Amino acid sequence: MVSSECERVIGLSAISVRSLTKYYGRTRGIENIDLDVEKGEIFGFIGPNGAGKSTTIRLLMQLIFPTSGTMRVLGEEIRGDNPRLRRRIGYLPGEVSYYSDLTGRQLLTFIAGAYGLEGLGRIEEYSERLSLDLSKTVKSYSLGNRKKLALVHALMHDPELLILDEPTTGLDPLMQAVFFDMIKERRDAGATVFLSTHVLSEVDKVCDRVAIIRNGSLVSVSKVSEVPGRDHRRIEVTFKEPGNLIERFDLARIDPDVVYEAGVHRFKVSGEINDALRALAEHPVSDLIVRLPSLEELFMEFYKDDNAAETNGR
Ligand SMILES: Nc1ncnc2c1ncn2[C@@H]1O[C@H](COP(=O)(O)OP(=O)(O)OP(=O)(O)O)[C@@H](O)[C@H]1O
Ligand SMILES: [Mg+2]
Repeated sequence: MVSSECERVIGLSAISVRSLTKYYGRTRGIENIDLDVEKGEIFGFIGPNGAGKSTTIRLLMQLIFPTSGTMRVLGEEIRGDNPRLRRRIGYLPGEVSYYSDLTGRQLLTFIAGAYGLEGLGRIEEYSERLSLDLSKTVKSYSLGNRKKLALVHALMHDPELLILDEPTTGLDPLMQAVFFDMIKERRDAGATVFLSTHVLSEVDKVCDRVAIIRNGSLVSVSKVSEVPGRDHRRIEVTFKEPGNLIERFDLARIDPDVVYEAGVHRFKVSGEINDALRALAEHPVSDLIVRLPSLEELFMEFYKDDNAAETNGR
């Protein structure tokens, strides 16, 4: 058994949070959060705007202090400022606000010095992979280039733990893919990644587990494949005959909530799908798709009434 497996078996967490609560004056940030992120996993943190993701992340980074509750990060209890612990973490803030007359290379070299890194660490390698031109001044960088600079900053010292608040916002799809390759490599080398995002397809692709937060409280923590509500199939059928056939074919007996949109009949089926397929096959079918719901679809259903709830909750 390699050491990372061994640590997982005995339950050593990279992040362990108990009853964590943060109020900003009278405004609730988060309330009573319990969370464990295991060493060596990529853990996604998702939830609507204002749910409490950045609050949790800023608490973990010791940038703000809890109203109550405890946090352990990489085995150390967080009490007050702990620069030694912070150096073991790569952090990407939600709002990247570099402004400097220095070039990207000069700025990162300066930061590397502060980390006590010999040479340039991974600066050149990561910048090249992200197509970041280090010879330009930081103040001339576009939004996406500032994000890339922040990612190199977070990753360059090969930290044991990466805490990333919306790392892919502002990156084009090609660069998002490069970034995911980079964090998967870090995970495979034994590092832990905790990231918040609104891009749910990312969570489906790269995360091992995911926590959903809403109105400051955790709603669920699960493997990505086991998110609550994911235990059914989506079926999309196009019949050879055109038009809405729900009534004529009595399709509501397969799923009472069947809908017809743009030529396609959409069903949800829990458990065994054979009965549904047999019933559909009674009519000539020109196309059929059977799939698991995407995280995005689940999220939309979960949160569609959320704006009102959230406004009332504050
Ligand atoms: N500095 C602050 N002062 C007062 N209230 C704050 C502050 N920062 C956050 N809040 C409040 O705390 C709650 C959680 O905000 P937070 O920024 O953690 O949400 P989030 O999940 O990161 O949202 P988003 O997806 O928009 O980034 C919100 O109600 C927000 O208005
Ligand atoms: Mg945020």
